Amino acid sequence: MAGSEKRETSSNVPGVDLQQRLSATVPHNMPLYLAAVWQCDSPEQADQLLAGKLDGYVYQRDRHPNADLFAEACCQLHEAERASITSSGMAAISLAVLSQLQSGDHVLVSNQLYGRTTLLLTSELQRLGITHALIDPYDLESVRAAVTPQTKMVIAETIANPLLRIVDIRGLSEITHNAGAVLLIDNTFATPAICKPLTLGADLVMESVSKFMNGHGDVMLGMLAGTEKHWERVELVNAAWGFASSPLECWLACRGVSTLTLRMRQASATAQAAAELLAVHEEVESVEYPGLNSHVDHELASTQFLNGFGHMVTFRLSGGRQAADRLIASGSIPFCPSLGDVSTTLSHPTSTSHRGLSDAERAALGITDGTIRLSVGVDQASDVLNSLEDALSSVS
Ligand SMILES: Cc1ncc(COP(=O)(O)O)c(C=O)c1O
Repeated sequence: MAGSEKRETSSNVPGVDLQQRLSATVPHNMPLYLAAVWQCDSPEQADQLLAGKLDGYVYQRDRHPNADLFAEACCQLHEAERASITSSGMAAISLAVLSQLQSGDHVLVSNQLYGRTTLLLTSELQRLGITHALIDPYDLESVRAAVTPQTKMVIAETIANPLLRIVDIRGLSEITHNAGAVLLIDNTFATPAICKPLTLGADLVMESVSKFMNGHGDVMLGMLAGTEKHWERVELVNAAWGFASSPLECWLACRGVSTLTLRMRQASATAQAAAELLAVHEEVESVEYPGLNSHVDHELASTQFLNGFGHMVTFRLSGGRQAADRLIASGSIPFCPSLGDVSTTLSHPTSTSHRGLSDAERAALGITDGTIRLSVGVDQASDVLNSLEDALSSVS
């Protein structure tokens, strides 16, 4: 059978030819392409496709339409030139460091990163001969002082977990660029609906799409975006290290981001109301929310943020661990040690995200046994506030 005849029978069911019917109209929404491999016309065509000389698809791990479309959506959201999609947020961070760094390089690592990221950038990179120094990203002079001639990357989060400190991206980018290094920002808590780090001077931005970016609690995915200048090795590393995404996750995430700004505006407004309620509640010792005037980074957040101050609120119960246990046991708000779902959920940093730290380390970060982290969803604001009141009433 000639190659072109074979291709018209675009189905693995013998005798079924969908190609003609499919070409009559165009689906309004992107179909889900689950094909692991694509049929090629000739060795020459396969060669050109695999060499990137011809635009098209051969093997899902290298490239697939659902990842391409989601990457394009991410480029638009971040005003980026390039974006690549990975199987998780951790894979996106791995992609950033493995595409930009090599043995002998040095990285400056924020001391308030997600725990697994810290592990990756310290212990794991150390094994590859990449050294690091931990920095306080909120003290720019100390960051400047930590730069060495080998420093090639600086890594920080837009909004850090769980105290919701905001990093000065413009200030960090100036220091990073003076050092001839690359600034990578983890924008997971903010999403591009709240902050677009590339427009503030960052070179690379990544997100765990598993969180608010997708926003429906049903996807595990990551994304890395930046400029053409930094993309030379990115696609190769993504394919060679096997960080590739699945079509279904990309398809779901495309649907998720189509309502991102809408969802973030709603969640931010509810989070602001929740923070104000908590700030005057008798069971609450203190509240961290960038939208409150009392937050240490409120002014900085006002200059860097769009569409509100985000969907995360952290508060400390005066009754400590016992109060936290009671509030969680009330079941008024589901205890889910993640964030960014459709509905409001809560987490308890001491027993989940920060359980690996000593009491002293947690205390230094301002995390008490009574600290609760709220991820506000897009549920009705009055329902969220009522659930919060119910939960707090169970504490005493
Ligand atoms: C701030 C931040 N960055 C990165 C990650 C890792 O993302 P993933 O779980 O999609 O690998 C997480 C996960 O919780 C996170 O909270």
